[in-house]
Amino acid sequence: MERLKSIQDLDGLRQRIIEKRKELRKRIRVCTGTGCHSQGSRRLVDAFQQELESRGLTREYMVIPTGCNGFCACGPIVVIEPEEVFYQRVKPEQVRAIVERSVVGDEIIEELLYVDPTTGERIVHEFEIPFFAKQKRLVFKDTGSNYVTDIEDYIARGGYSALAKVLSGMKPEEVIDEVKRSGLRGRGGGGFPTGVKWESCRRAHGDIKYVMCNADEGDPGAYMDRSLLEGNPHQVLEGMIIGAYAIGAVEGYIYVRFEYPMAVKNAEWAIKQAKDYGLLGENIMGTPFGLDMHVNRGGGAFICGESTALMASLEGKVGEPRGKHIHTVEKGLWGRPSNLNNVETWANVPLIINNGGDWYASMGTERSKGTKIFSLVGKINNTGLVEVAMGTPLRTIIYDIGGGIPEGKRFKAVQTGGPSGGCIPERLIDLPVDFEKLKEAGSMMGSGGMIVMDEATCMVDVARYFLNFLVEESCGKCIPCRVGVKRMHELVTDMCEGRARPGDLERLEELCHAIQETALCGLGKSAPNPVLSTIQYFRDEYEAHIYDKRCPAKICKALITYVIDPDKCTGCGLCRIKCPEGAVIGAKKECHCIDEELCVRCGICMENCKFGAIYIE
Ligand SMILES: Cc1cc2nc3c(=O)[nH]c(=O)nc-3n(C[C@H](O)[C@H](O)[C@H](O)COP(=O)(O)O)c2cc1C
Ligand code: SF4
Ligand code: SF4
Ligand code: FES
Repeated sequence: MERLKSIQDLDGLRQRIIEKRKELRKRIRVCTGTGCHSQGSRRLVDAFQQELESRGLTREYMVIPTGCNGFCACGPIVVIEPEEVFYQRVKPEQVRAIVERSVVGDEIIEELLYVDPTTGERIVHEFEIPFFAKQKRLVFKDTGSNYVTDIEDYIARGGYSALAKVLSGMKPEEVIDEVKRSGLRGRGGGGFPTGVKWESCRRAHGDIKYVMCNADEGDPGAYMDRSLLEGNPHQVLEGMIIGAYAIGAVEGYIYVRFEYPMAVKNAEWAIKQAKDYGLLGENIMGTPFGLDMHVNRGGGAFICGESTALMASLEGKVGEPRGKHIHTVEKGLWGRPSNLNNVETWANVPLIINNGGDWYASMGTERSKGTKIFSLVGKINNTGLVEVAMGTPLRTIIYDIGGGIPEGKRFKAVQTGGPSGGCIPERLIDLPVDFEKLKEAGSMMGSGGMIVMDEATCMVDVARYFLNFLVEESCGKCIPCRVGVKRMHELVTDMCEGRARPGDLERLEELCHAIQETALCGLGKSAPNPVLSTIQYFRDEYEAHIYDKRCPAKICKALITYVIDPDKCTGCGLCRIKCPEGAVIGAKKECHCIDEELCVRCGICMENCKFGAIYIE
């Protein structure tokens, strides 16, 4: 380790790291992101390391534990560089063969390759897999190839050169202008122009100013911020240091969701390394500029991601929002000017400084520039993290990158924007995804969650799920949200459980509009979105629940009945034996039937019938 005493030292260090690695013939990348980690990828790292050590090959070959590769559906993933041979679902017992045949040798192990489900072809290289080929990876580019806890790997890839450029003579105002020119908008949900926010904070009066990173990421199904912070913490840190310089901040905080221990650990590790190398702390790279940085574990509540609640939580108070009549850029943390940005927003900054605001603004749509990372989850073949240029149509994301819907089912809708977002129906599949278009369609970008739903999804039940989440997560400070969202949940539950009365749909809509207008913070104001968007596109489903006591998707248990088809039933008796409630009646070799009163609609009978004699009505 060496401490950088000047800006020029950084280049020298980079050359020495590259020189040191020249002897390396191959790198074995093992994804240790959360998805792969949960499937034992750490054991793979150890197994590769042991195998290389036992063969005395550690000078020529190196095991790289990386952050999330993005294609989580295929985990644990191993990629062998420089060829980028992509192996999926690797097990520790396959490590010896990989080292022998594909690392020391140049053989491809066919059975570990990815098989394209549409063509049935085995694909050798990562860059040829359609999931990757159709993406535009800029911000997320190195997360799956970076050595997670090694600052030298980041520096070797050009890391901290943007900071060096800024400190080599750019005035703070020039940095802000560059970010403004890029058109970068906050990736945490609101889409506020980042450069404008920085400018307001710079102009605000106060000797002490703060920069903060929002890594609270509470949206169900979203994990892009987690993956960025776990897999490439220095990119986020570099963005924050540049931001602090531009704003005139002296201290920074990374507020990480309580449930993300690996992100906390890696961010702390990155801060320590950056300090050791003279890239954080006093006199960064020998310049007069200094910045201190801390990691703070979140309060464990979704609302703590809201800017003012986050700051209250950081101060050690209850994480509750306050009115925004005074902006946090003027009076934020401890009443001082504070600039909060999302993880992905910060991670964009080094790219903008290195390549220029005009380069960044050349990507995307008129008002939404650059790229966006989405977490593609739900009923989709290729679950994972995808980065695309703003304006990419939903169809490209869901079919070309996501590989379409499993089991040949029909796509029904996609929920974007987290629990307060909306559901976009199949007929808008060609919608270009950017801040404006999503809003026009009744949804929002949010932080980038995309939950895909197939034909077997009940949209009323979906609305109930998100309302349930919001009822649990409402901080309770204001009545419209505390009482109103709960009442919305009750109304939608009544619909799902067959108790709804005529007029309930109109009452629900009225309530939605009242809450939108009166709730104190973004949580309450946007809570009606999942309801309003599902009513907008799937009103007939609501009406079927209310007036016909019928769930068209056959999901709401109170509105469905399991029936045995006498023409198909052979009287084998399996359903009678398997039914946990004793609800199936019938004698051997005679047609069976189900007692509706006893049936709890678990579906076990239907799963077990080998003759397809049971159906839902
Ligand atoms: C209920 C609620 C939860 C939020 N959670 C997050 C979050 O987890 N991460 C995030 O970056 N922004 C979250 N936000 C948005 C933040 O309040 C804030 O706008 C954002 O961190 C600003 O950064 P940006 O300009 O880079 O997007 C949330 C907002 C609300 C209303
Ligand atoms: S809208 Fe909900 S979460 Fe926001 S302050 Fe009111 S009660 Fe709390
Ligand atoms: S399992 Fe199917 S075929 Fe057998 S008794 Fe039940 S309904 Fe009839
Ligand atoms: S965690 Fe390994 S690919 Fe996402």
